[in-house]
Amino acid sequence: SYEKVNVKTQIETLLSTDVVQLLKTVGETAAADHMNAFIIGGMVRDILLGQKGEDIDIVVEGNGMSLAEKTANRFDGTVAVHETFGTATVTLPSGRRVDFTTSRTEYYETPAALPTVSRSNIKEDLYRRDFTMNAMAASLHPSHFGDLIDYFHGREDMNQKKLRVLHNLSFVEDPTRILRGIRFEQRFQFRMSKETTAFIHYSVSAVSSLSRTRITAEFQTLLKEADPVQSLSRLDELGVLPIFFPGAAWTRQTKDVLQLYLHSPEQPGDLPEWFCILFCLYLTHTDTVKSAEAAAVTKKQKSVVENTSYLFYLLDEKEWISLGNFHFHASRVSDEALFFASIATDQKQAGFLLQYRKKRSELKPLLNGHDLKAAGLAPGPDFRDYLFSLEQKMLDKEITTRDEALRYIRQQE
Ligand code: CTP
Repeated sequence: SYEKVNVKTQIETLLSTDVVQLLKTVGETAAADHMNAFIIGGMVRDILLGQKGEDIDIVVEGNGMSLAEKTANRFDGTVAVHETFGTATVTLPSGRRVDFTTSRTEYYETPAALPTVSRSNIKEDLYRRDFTMNAMAASLHPSHFGDLIDYFHGREDMNQKKLRVLHNLSFVEDPTRILRGIRFEQRFQFRMSKETTAFIHYSVSAVSSLSRTRITAEFQTLLKEADPVQSLSRLDELGVLPIFFPGAAWTRQTKDVLQLYLHSPEQPGDLPEWFCILFCLYLTHTDTVKSAEAAAVTKKQKSVVENTSYLFYLLDEKEWISLGNFHFHASRVSDEALFFASIATDQKQAGFLLQYRKKRSELKPLLNGHDLKAAGLAPGPDFRDYLFSLEQKMLDKEITTRDEALRYIRQQE
């Protein structure tokens, strides 16, 4: 038993008239067909927080598909039915999307089933969810519009700014919820409860069952929404950083590297932000750079990791003074790798790398193959070597003009 709470007033004041009208119509249409409809999840949470949620999720005790179709007809929208999942999405002329889910299929067989039965249906639906604050619903039925369904005391937890899972296996069932939890902590300035963080520790082995793509998608959402430094530090504090990203570290050094990345005006443009931020957590040792390959998803990302690791090796090997000489070893290394190596190395080497990166990007050939032929050289594989050594000499400013280049070439015969 719980205190009866009604959020009709909040719905009417927070949401736009269009949305309120829609919700009332959905509730009436459902009731006319002996069904119950509820808004559920994030939207209910947001209403209780005094915010208006964007996504409308509706759970139907009854035939959600038919309710979706009727709603689409009423409001001139279109409906896409996903039969296998028992869900349907209605898109309104305004572009707003409303998702319908059927909470229990048995219900169609007995359309006028007892309310007690239907109550247990929504309860089951709610019990499958992540945190108590996301496990509430509000009735759309015209005779009890706005009644809050809160079996797990989500409202009480919210009042205490607590994020609490519903049961001890929640994270085992879906370990991405750990990242969601950190995201909600940041977004609402909530804190996970003690048992909840304890459950995280019991469920770390389940993380290995997640695909890279799912981890990446959830991590991306986390970083986009919250302050990356806060989120990473929380991941570290909860002991799950190396669980999601093996080899990643959150140390004094990696924090410095990340700061350099975040404040650098020279960030390479061609990689997703989440990857760049994550890569910073691998950039302190020659050994750990390589482990970032496990976190990379695309070929491009993997090659940046490989290239950076190779640069670490080059920098460890000797002290480079001449750009031309360095070019001999690093000409194929990507621009992104040069950037990442530069933020992770000492100031002197960083200066050298950035200078090389800049000069290399400005390099414009003074001669081409035709020029070599015209200068009397016999075409062949040597041409490439000639042109490459020209590049080296240009980087070292030994050659700066076309005439100097031609003179140099003639000496090669
Ligand atoms: N949910 C869950 N476990 C997940 C993902 C989602 O239990 N791993 C449930 C939660 O009840 C959540 C609802 O599905 O409220 C909708 O999920 P989603 O749209 O991803 O999140 P919201 O809570 O709506 O948050 P946001 O405001 O970020 O969209």
